[in-house]
Amino acid sequence: MTPQAGICAEPNLHAFYLMFNLVPGKREQVRQALAELPVFWQHTVEQYPEATFSGLVAIGNNAWDEIYPHARPAGLTAFPAQEEGARQAPETPYDLFFQFRADRLDVAYIASQQVMALLAGLAELAYEQQGFRYLDSRDFTGFVDGTENPQDEHRAEVALVAEGRFAGGSYLHVQHYRHRMAKWRKLPVRQQEDVYGRTKLENIEYESAHKPPTAHTKRTSLKDKQGQSMEILRQSMPWGNATGQGLVFISCCNTPLHFTRMLESMFQVDGAGHFDHLTLFTQAETGSAFFAPSLEWLAKGGE
Ligand code: HEM
Repeated sequence: MTPQAGICAEPNLHAFYLMFNLVPGKREQVRQALAELPVFWQHTVEQYPEATFSGLVAIGNNAWDEIYPHARPAGLTAFPAQEEGARQAPETPYDLFFQFRADRLDVAYIASQQVMALLAGLAELAYEQQGFRYLDSRDFTGFVDGTENPQDEHRAEVALVAEGRFAGGSYLHVQHYRHRMAKWRKLPVRQQEDVYGRTKLENIEYESAHKPPTAHTKRTSLKDKQGQSMEILRQSMPWGNATGQGLVFISCCNTPLHFTRMLESMFQVDGAGHFDHLTLFTQAETGSAFFAPSLEWLAKGGE
């Protein structure tokens, strides 16, 4: 089975993100519309080879059975919302998620307009956001993002379901984060570095013994009962406009479990009173769970 190119895509310059909710009673038409996407995107890649374009569509937890009623990915469940006082990661379900990535903004834009036309009357746009590379792949907090992401062929091992009916697919979790920049800027650089467990300018990881238990990279480096690393592939990109900045966080994985455990570890207070201090400086405004099926699944309407 062939995965959608946007799941394991290498980092690039631009992105458009769109999320839709289905218009009731259009199940068949939506399935047919989604079946056209692999050919659309292949044409885009061929037409603009230098743009390194990739397309990606994922179907939301609530919409899956509506569009593909005969079979459902076993792990597709609601977004694991978190609430610890003011630190919250809410669930905001959406039916369809699109990610268009390219090194040319115009090419990503063309793809987003194609989908707007394709889904006219079938689904309503509920979220749109443009993402872009900031400096040398930094988040707006000033730290390089993506360093410890899986590399090369390991990206596919982490992100793609390997076997069975849903082989080549991926469980996606998407969150729109808005940073509390005024609060963050007041924090001295050394303390900002403690929040991540990495240095800011040179992007060097702290020695394990020196990482605070509240460091983001400590809270998200988890192992399962067999001692295996619980990994995800992050496809996040910064967003920014005149009044706000943040991150469109995207996790792709062969299981929804790893993201869920990491999010719990970030938000929930452990026995020693610790949690991820990054959650003091950024606010999750959306949180949605999706499954991105293989190109063959899309093209055949799941048959
Ligand atoms: C690492 C930023 C949310 C999972 C990092 C790093 C940065 C960063 C700068 C260090 C460099 C790197 O390895 O990429 C952010 C920001 C977030 C955010 C700004 C939200 C606004 C999340 C969430 C998760 C997550 C929600 C998962 C639930 C990870 C993982 C690592 C990481 C697994 C690698 C840890 C390691 O092995 O060292 N993040 N992150 N991040 N983040 Fe996040």
